[in-house]
Amino acid sequence: MQVYTNIKKLYTLKGGTKTKEELKDAAVLDDAWLAVEDGKIIEVGQGSFPYTDAEVIDLNGGVVIPGLIDAHTHLVFAGDRSDEYPDKINGLGYLDILKRGGGILSTVKATRLASKEELTAQAEISINKALSRGVTCLEIKSGYGLDTITEVKQLEVVKELQDKQPVTLVPTYLGAHALPLEFSDKIEYLDYCAEEVFPLMKPLAEFCDVFFDEGVFDYIESYVYLKRAKESGFKLKLHIDEIKNLKGSEVAVELEATSVDHCIMTNQCQINELAIAEIPIVLLPMTSFNLNKGYAKAKEMRDAGAIIALGSDYNPGSCPCNDYLLTLRVASRVYGLLAEEVLAMATINAAGALDKDDLIGSLQTGKQADFVVLRAKDFNEVIARMDFDPVKEVYIKGRRVYSC
Ligand code: NIG
Ligand code: FE
Repeated sequence: MQVYTNIKKLYTLKGGTKTKEELKDAAVLDDAWLAVEDGKIIEVGQGSFPYTDAEVIDLNGGVVIPGLIDAHTHLVFAGDRSDEYPDKINGLGYLDILKRGGGILSTVKATRLASKEELTAQAEISINKALSRGVTCLEIKSGYGLDTITEVKQLEVVKELQDKQPVTLVPTYLGAHALPLEFSDKIEYLDYCAEEVFPLMKPLAEFCDVFFDEGVFDYIESYVYLKRAKESGFKLKLHIDEIKNLKGSEVAVELEATSVDHCIMTNQCQINELAIAEIPIVLLPMTSFNLNKGYAKAKEMRDAGAIIALGSDYNPGSCPCNDYLLTLRVASRVYGLLAEEVLAMATINAAGALDKDDLIGSLQTGKQADFVVLRAKDFNEVIARMDFDPVKEVYIKGRRVYSC
C-alpha cells in the first residue's frame, strides 16, 4: 500500500457526473492524503493518516487533481493539412474543402498509404504529449480509412498502444465519417460498414460514431446505421450540430446514445431533452476556435441541467491542436465557465461521456488511482494563467508515469 501525503489541495470531484451548481464544487480537501493499493484508491483523508505499514510518498505540498480525460479525439492519422490553411483563412468552408476531395478525404488518402508502424509512431507522440498535459484517459476514433483494411489498421494501432503505454485508450469506430471516393451512394456505403466492417470492429471498438451533419450523413442514414450498430452491440456516440442542426439529438435520445459531441447549433428545446435523457454533451472548444464559426451554448446547457463534458477533438483538419490544457483554458474563457466547472467537465463528466464514471474521473474510494500533481496555488491559477506549465507528475493506476 502507498500513502501519498502532504497534498496542499486535493480536488476529489467525488460523487457522480455533475450538473448545474454541482459543477462548481470540486469537493476540495486541504492538507490531504490519498491511500492506494493495487492501483486503486482505498481511502482519502485529511491531516495525519492511520496507516503504519504503508510506503509513504511525500507530494511536497502539491495540488492534486484527477487525471484529465479527453473524451473525443481522432489522433491516429497520417499527413497534415496545412496546405489547406490559406483557403480556409480566405473563407472557404470546411465542407467546401471536403467537396473538392480535400479535408477528411485528404487525410484518408495519407492514412491509407501509411504503414501501421508509421501510424503507431505518430500516435504515440500525440499520446505522450497528452500525458504531459495531465491526460490519463483518451478516446480515439477511426475514420481516416473508410475501407476495411485501414479502419482495422487504425484501431489495431490503438490496441497495440494500449499494451505499450499507460494512458487508458477508448476506441471508437467512425467509418461513417465521410463518403469514400469509391462509393457514390451513402446508403450503400453504410450497408458495407455494417455488413463487412462491424464484425471485424467488434473486438476492437467500444463505441460506434457517425458524422451526422450537413453534407455528410443525414437523419435517416444516421438513424438506421446507428440502430444497426446498437443491435450489433456497440455503444453509440454522435457528431451532431457542428455545422447545421439536423435534429441529431432526437436520434441520440431515441437510441440512448452514450454521448453527443460538438452541439454548436443545438437549440434550447433540444438541450432540455438531452438534459432529461442524461446524455452527456461533449464540447470541443478548440474546433470552434479553429473553424471560427461560433461556440456551443455551454451556460444554457449547464443551466438546463445537462451533463457537459470536454474533449480536444484533436485531428489534422478541424482541430490541429493537441494541447489539452490549452483546451481547458480556452473552454473557461469562451464558455464563461469557472476553472472548477471546466475541471469537472474534463474529469468526472468526461468519464461519464465514455461510460467510465464508475472507474475513473474522481479521487474517491474504489476508483482507479489516476491523478496529476500540479505546481500551482490551486486549479484556478492553472486556468487563469496561461504562461506556465503546471504539470509536475502524472500517476496512472498508482504508478508514476510522467514527471517533469
Ligand atoms: O470532429 N466533424 C467531423 N470530424 C472531425 C473532423 C475531422 C477532420 O477534419 O479531419 C471533427 O471535427
Ligand atoms: Fe470529431
